[in-house]
Amino acid sequence: MISHTGTLEPTGTEDRIDAILDRALEATFPVSDPIAFPLGGGAFVQDNRYPVGLISSWIAPDGTYVSIRPVRPDDVQLMQQFVKALSPKTKYLRFMSGVRELPPAMIARLTRIEYGRDMALLALVSDRDVERQVGVVRYVRAPDGESAEMATVVADDWQGRGLSRHLLTQLIDIARASGLKTLSADILTVNKPMLALSRALGFELDDPLGDGAVARATLRLSGSHHAALLEP
Ligand SMILES: CC(C)(COP(=O)(O)OP(=O)(O)OC[C@H]1O[C@@H](n2cnc3c(N)ncnc32)[C@H](O)[C@@H]1OP(=O)(O)O)[C@@H](O)C(=O)NCCC(=O)NCCS
Repeated sequence: MISHTGTLEPTGTEDRIDAILDRALEATFPVSDPIAFPLGGGAFVQDNRYPVGLISSWIAPDGTYVSIRPVRPDDVQLMQQFVKALSPKTKYLRFMSGVRELPPAMIARLTRIEYGRDMALLALVSDRDVERQVGVVRYVRAPDGESAEMATVVADDWQGRGLSRHLLTQLIDIARASGLKTLSADILTVNKPMLALSRALGFELDDPLGDGAVARATLRLSGSHHAALLEP
């Protein structure tokens, strides 16, 4: 297991699922250096300008205005507050660990991304004129350039309002536009909401360890890519 002194607590998870948990944490906290990745058909995104075309908004069922935009390097504090405020259950389901807050190196990796390779969309609301993060979806591209691990988490008081469904739908479009062929996630089988959401979005579920503890959700992305969606 990856451990991080003082901030990540050991989970005591059985050895046999450690490999899958490590993969999930690597998706959360990518460790490789940024490099250019193919956008299908041999095209490469080689700069890292902020993709303003991906800024959007969404109106929640109760009428709340939600801003959606790719993460920025100056989102460190927003994201740290978001993670700190998550309930232990939500943290466990997302990080598969008793994370309390994110170490600076991890939060830097989560906020400084190479947009042509990886993507993270934040959902933000204005709370008494203070911006607050209420959700995030991200994918981290694998070295093969064609597959990526995805993850999402929504603030406890925002769950069940359709936010993750909306964010994941956006993320899937971006993944397709960036030439990805598959998006995958490892999901604890106790996580019924995420399993239901994955199924609803067309992910296929299987049981790679054969023990019923962690499901592997995979979405095959078909159709042509539209790299223009990612242009700054
Ligand atoms: C899983 C999670 C991301 C879903 O986000 P959300 O914004 O609450 O989900 P939505 O409101 O968009 O719901 C979309 C679908 O998910 C499913 N779902 C959501 N909450 C559910 C619940 N409590 N029980 C069963 N299904 C549920 C339903 O299929 C729902 O579709 P419907 O509204 O048409 O019924 C959120 O609950 C969360 O952050 N959980 C903790 C972290 C986590 O599990 N992350 C995923 C790790 S891989």
